[in-house]
Amino acid sequence: MNLLIMGPPGAGKGTQAEVLVKELNITHISTGDMFRAAIKEGTEMGKKAKEYMDKGALVPDEVVIGMVKDRLSQADCQAGFLLDGFPRTVEQAAALDATLQDMGIKLDGVVNVEVPLEKLMARLTGRRVCKGCGASYHVIFNPPQAEGKCNSCGGELYQRSDDNEESVGTRLNAYIEKTKPLIDYYEAKGILKGINGDQEISKVLADILAAVK
Ligand code: AP5
Ligand code: MG
Ligand code: ZN
Repeated sequence: MNLLIMGPPGAGKGTQAEVLVKELNITHISTGDMFRAAIKEGTEMGKKAKEYMDKGALVPDEVVIGMVKDRLSQADCQAGFLLDGFPRTVEQAAALDATLQDMGIKLDGVVNVEVPLEKLMARLTGRRVCKGCGASYHVIFNPPQAEGKCNSCGGELYQRSDDNEESVGTRLNAYIEKTKPLIDYYEAKGILKGINGDQEISKVLADILAAVK
């Protein structure tokens, strides 16, 4: 199964993706996670991406598109994948369509996680992420069992450099301007599944599974 999960920053894409890929036995492709890995490794691409990411701006389309194309061609994507955080512009969506067509595959569904925008700031400024496995927690809404430590791998939790009020503001604007139009794009293709993301994490998961199965 080839899926895409979209929604504003803080909607819960990463939180849901982590469990969904295990349930569905598919590969998680998060462009944000890929950029953060490149930054950690200190690659040229990582250095370039960091300038945009810290401000909350989108990384240029040509950089993202090339990276995703390479990733989709890898063997672990053959059994299915879940794209998270890509596409984020109409140009990226068109490039994805072309790539999938070349590969002879298609998207089976697009999950759109809906959360009122005024709730996202608190979700993002309270988020903590595992250094080891990338799992997302929240100081109030989803705290780890032991403070500062990941439940699944014991890794140390940190705060993302773009989870501050100023960057979140820019990210929300980028979402409204560039990414939200993709809702209509996928609606027109008849594959959009709207999910209420403003409920308990386990309930959101159940709704997504019911919608895609
Ligand atoms: P990316 O890493 O994709 O960030 P994002 O889209 O801003 O989304 P987030 O990861 O912040 O939110 P999420 O929906 O995954 O939320 P989460 O599950 O963690 O991208 C980062 C940057 O990289 C971009 O700004 C851009 O610069 C660049 N980039 C990446 N892809 C790009 C692309 N395609 N093109 C151009 N540039 C690109 O949850 C958030 C918090 O809420 C957590 O604390 C969680 O515990 C909590 N939470 C989750 N669900 C619930 C719930 N149901 N109730 C209460 N709290 C909840
Ligand atoms: Mg995420
Ligand atoms: Zn972890």
